[in-house]
Amino acid sequence: MTETTVTDLPTLPATLPATGGGEPLRIAVVAASVRDQRMGRTLAEWAAFRAATDAEVDLIDCADCVLPGDGELRPGGSSGSPVAARIDAADAFVFVTPEYNHSYPASLKRLIDWHYREWMFKPATVLSYGVQGGLLATEHLRGVFAELHMVTTRRVVGLRTPWDDLGPAGYAPPAAVEQAYDAALHELGWWATVLRSARRDRPFAR
Ligand SMILES: Cc1cc2nc3c(=O)[nH]c(=O)nc-3n(C[C@H](O)[C@H](O)[C@H](O)COP(=O)(O)O)c2cc1C
Repeated sequence: MTETTVTDLPTLPATLPATGGGEPLRIAVVAASVRDQRMGRTLAEWAAFRAATDAEVDLIDCADCVLPGDGELRPGGSSGSPVAARIDAADAFVFVTPEYNHSYPASLKRLIDWHYREWMFKPATVLSYGVQGGLLATEHLRGVFAELHMVTTRRVVGLRTPWDDLGPAGYAPPAAVEQAYDAALHELGWWATVLRSARRDRPFAR
């Protein structure tokens, strides 16, 4: 790590307004990790700010989501989630996740499993991170998303040792990372627009 530590950095508001024109897409950026020394929140804030150029952004932090006990979990999602309405309101998702033991954290799996219809027929991209970029977490998420009728973008971003790119104002990545994320967002935006229309005009019939 550099001299700046994750806990030194400012925390941003959860909801950022879109700065582009037209009917804005609503993107929920999901911060997956909940460790008290995590860097996930810093990366999620960076991801949220960059996405807010063309979309309304809600930052859903797993650390703030106090879900009921898993004894109450039911197939097809459950009631009682304090963030269900925020997930439901989103047209698309950016999952910011570390790789823990070659997968994604249990905190994110709980958030996913506590909801069902709120995720359906929506696109997602993944910004993973870890020693080697965290792409094993992403590949595990692709299978989970498929079960939820979600589409994962072809382009995803894997950040290798992003703790090396912390500056006084937060995450300050190389230009190649910005370009890779923008490309993933571009693809996400296409899917989000197409699927938003499809959910309205041609709801899926079983
Ligand atoms: C329980 C645990 C398991 C980890 N497993 C991996 C791993 O499989 N691959 C990897 O690249 N990094 C692994 N790491 C290192 C993480 O990439 C690194 O600690 C990262 O900062 C974790 O994200 P967070 O700070 O947002 O929690 C692991 C870290 C933890 C805490």
